[in-house]
Amino acid sequence: MGRLDGKVAIVTGAGRGLGKGIALKLAMEGAKVAVADVVMENADSCVREIKQAGGSAFAVPANIAKLDEVNRLFETTVKEFGRLDTVVNNAGINRDGMLHKMSDENWETVIAVNLTGTFYMTREAAKRLREQKSGAIINISSMSWKGNLGQANYAASKAGVVGLTLTAARELARNHVTANVICPGFIDTDMTRSMSEEGWKMMVSKVPMGFAGTPADVGNMAAFLASDEASYITGQIIEVSGGMVI
Ligand code: NAI
Repeated sequence: MGRLDGKVAIVTGAGRGLGKGIALKLAMEGAKVAVADVVMENADSCVREIKQAGGSAFAVPANIAKLDEVNRLFETTVKEFGRLDTVVNNAGINRDGMLHKMSDENWETVIAVNLTGTFYMTREAAKRLREQKSGAIINISSMSWKGNLGQANYAASKAGVVGLTLTAARELARNHVTANVICPGFIDTDMTRSMSEEGWKMMVSKVPMGFAGTPADVGNMAAFLASDEASYITGQIIEVSGGMVI
């Protein structure tokens, strides 16, 4: 018996990194998982891992910045698994650079995926979950929402995700739907591995526990928030960061 037996979840950006860690954890707790990503090869490989471990999942191509693909993702998931309980909005990108040198394109691309894409997903989740009067929305922001060097676009998008989620929490509470934000600190994924060795060391030095977290650390929190054990927890900003403050 898993904590999420009988539940159906969508996880975006689940082909690798945090999203994959979250999808694996939800599936191991018994949820049926729609593994959504723009890179199908990775989504397929995540689904294979889940199935090999005895879980249930299927891969869906979905770019969250495209409204028609978001709509199709929800439709396909409900068609495949018959219901929907949890939506984890994890897909996100970065295009770092100092503010005075940041191009319009790098600003717009990050806002389009991280904020507008998360809005499309959260709005569709709200429409469906409020009708059934149950469900959990879990949005992945970042400690950077408080501001971070070289991340004006990313920080603004992640601060937007906080405001969006806390508003969803207020609006959906009466319908018994929860909405919470997870702010991961510094987690070992392809995104963070792409930084310089010097940057990696600098980030790790900010973590009181002294090491980077893993996708499973974030997956554990997502599984709890998706479970009935968390049904009275909403509108919270939860940091999974090894004690990192900013
Ligand atoms: P990653 O780059 O390793 O993985 C991101 C996944 O999202 C990839 O599979 C990618 O194909 C997919 N993706 C990208 N754009 C997409 C789109 N438009 N639609 C659907 N899928 C898309 O990144 P990582 O590190 O796993 O990050 C996942 C989330 O966690 C992001 O929102 C990121 O901002 C956030 N985060 C990560 C931290 C870290 O230390 N790794 C820290 C704080 C937040």
